[in-house]
Amino acid sequence: MTGAPDRDSQDAAIFSYGETGAHHVEYLAHPIFGPYKSVALRLLQPQPGETILDAGCGAGLDVFNLAQLVGREGHVVGVDRDPTMLQAARTTHLERGSPANVEFQVGDLLHLSGLKSDTFDRTHIDRTLQHAGATGYDDEAPARVLAELRRVTKPSGLIQACEPDSSSIVINTDPRFATTTHRVLKSFIQARVMRHPMVGLDLRRLFKEAGIDVRNEVQVPLIVQSYEDGLAILRLRELAQHAISSEARDPLSIDEAEAWLQHLEDMDRRGLFVAVIPMHIVTGRVVK
Ligand SMILES: C[S@@+](CC[C@H](N)C(=O)[O-])C[C@H]1O[C@@H](n2cnc3c(N)ncnc32)[C@H](O)[C@@H]1O
Repeated sequence: MTGAPDRDSQDAAIFSYGETGAHHVEYLAHPIFGPYKSVALRLLQPQPGETILDAGCGAGLDVFNLAQLVGREGHVVGVDRDPTMLQAARTTHLERGSPANVEFQVGDLLHLSGLKSDTFDRTHIDRTLQHAGATGYDDEAPARVLAELRRVTKPSGLIQACEPDSSSIVINTDPRFATTTHRVLKSFIQARVMRHPMVGLDLRRLFKEAGIDVRNEVQVPLIVQSYEDGLAILRLRELAQHAISSEARDPLSIDEAEAWLQHLEDMDRRGLFVAVIPMHIVTGRVVK
């Protein structure tokens, strides 16, 4: 079959989106992320000579782009808690060379003890608030991360967050499978695979409450156009796994999960596979 795991598999428990490991380095470089990142960079408007923080920098792809814009007199710091990601980031920067003073630090965004207050002209965080929090469902973690980002950003500096709203993911299917898709996506949200799956929708409130004056909010869709990209970006097999898990509130049978994946493969063969993930980009000015 198409790879839907059985109900007893441990895969669902060990799978962790966007969190750690070498396999995520390749995932982060997927071209599907390019369009919204270009929009975000235009809205952030880094200037030559500025000091910029990329919080949760992963493999450093945004750090490299920011470094080009701030130039030789500028300074870009990437912070991430995953040493594997930072190793990949350092290797990429050595290979590509960089005009800016680039630095990578291991750190937890909830406690940026290695960074002084009022340091950065602009601070960027991308697809990382959705994972914030050490364990469990720490609902306050995104607010605490934003408070730390505000602390290290200069008065009147800009903070930008790019996060998905996973409650509004759409996957094109024949109407026969619409209910199954809905149940799959609902169980994904309820399982809290992403600790804060709808944080994209909440950014404006979070900014306001953190003392960051919102300048603009835009939504850019990630458009997934093949089953193969669906496996990589949406983790279709893991979605099916969550949907059949005994933990799901409205679990699918294994047969339903298999039929759903097979239908999506069939849609792909007919050139009809489309899924949309909305990304929210909010940029604001720090008020201190
Ligand atoms: C989906 S990746 C995004 C990476 C990068 N921003 C990008 O857009 O390519 C999320 C990253 O956030 C990091 N991360 C999650 N929670 C963190 C925390 N509390 N402190 C530091 N890094 C964190 C993960 O290690 C991972 O590299």
